[in-house]
Amino acid sequence: LKHLLTLEGLKQQHLLEILDTAESFIDPNSNKIKKVPLLRGKSIMNLFFEPSTRTRTTFEIAEKRLSADIESLDIQTSATKKGESLLDTLWNLQAMQADMFVIRHAESGAAHFFAQHVAPHVHVLNAGDGQHAHPTQALLDMFTIRKKKGDIFDLKVAIIGDILHSRVVRSQIQALSILEAREIRVIGPKTLLPENPEALGVHVYHDIEEGLQDVDVVIMVRLQNERMKSALIPSEKEFFKRYGLTEKRLALAKPDAIVMHPGPINRGVEIDSAVADGAQSVILEQVTYGIAVRMAVMSIIMSNAAQLAQQQAEQQE
Ligand code: CP
Repeated sequence: LKHLLTLEGLKQQHLLEILDTAESFIDPNSNKIKKVPLLRGKSIMNLFFEPSTRTRTTFEIAEKRLSADIESLDIQTSATKKGESLLDTLWNLQAMQADMFVIRHAESGAAHFFAQHVAPHVHVLNAGDGQHAHPTQALLDMFTIRKKKGDIFDLKVAIIGDILHSRVVRSQIQALSILEAREIRVIGPKTLLPENPEALGVHVYHDIEEGLQDVDVVIMVRLQNERMKSALIPSEKEFFKRYGLTEKRLALAKPDAIVMHPGPINRGVEIDSAVADGAQSVILEQVTYGIAVRMAVMSIIMSNAAQLAQQQAEQQE
């Protein structure tokens, strides 16, 4: 693993290695996330061209817990506002001796573009690109599911809401498929589902009450209005009526089902407060686990690079 741009094509053993490594960063007695010296002397730059609360902050915390030197560019006051291109921004930051970039951008493919243009020793992590992928979010979601429910292969998982515009859902479906979840359901109106969703290996439901029957995990996603043509944005009231997760609807899932949401949540639109704050919700635990999972991804990538460099040095001797 040189970069983490998508989960597509990742082998199950690699995904499990990330989850196991994340587990090793959590103190089993206190549940606190450890501070370790694994990335001491490495420089990581966070470039968030789109707003973020959870991903940006947990990446920054993870980098500090790995003892890396970190910089987070304030895009609003950066020279991008004077017309500097993405590529020139990248090359200038690379000239400041970055070892790794964490990038979020509104354009699908932005992280791939970065990865194609960085120096060979520099790594790129995708923190969300357009509608394409949000791999570390899906990894922390898998970590949370495994923590709460054990092995994923025996589980029925329902993902509900705006499936079409969600990079999180694309990555979640890939992760659940790699981990061989028993059944993946997507639930939403036709207008918010991709064409031919069955090709993704999922079961499609338009009726939330039908789709929730007997599931182990319920994942809600918000309406991604910023990626929709304004005429297609559904009324929030109508959406809640048809697809909002209420206590009554949640009762259709298994009694011990967990409720997840990548955030930000929109209370009263896709989820009722009683559910978001209820006993079955693990939404805030997802956030905490995001630190350990991001530590795992960054440390594995750097450790692979160090091993490769050592092998190459030995071959040259
Ligand atoms: N889940 C997620 O990506 O949240 P943020 O937009 O706050 O980073």
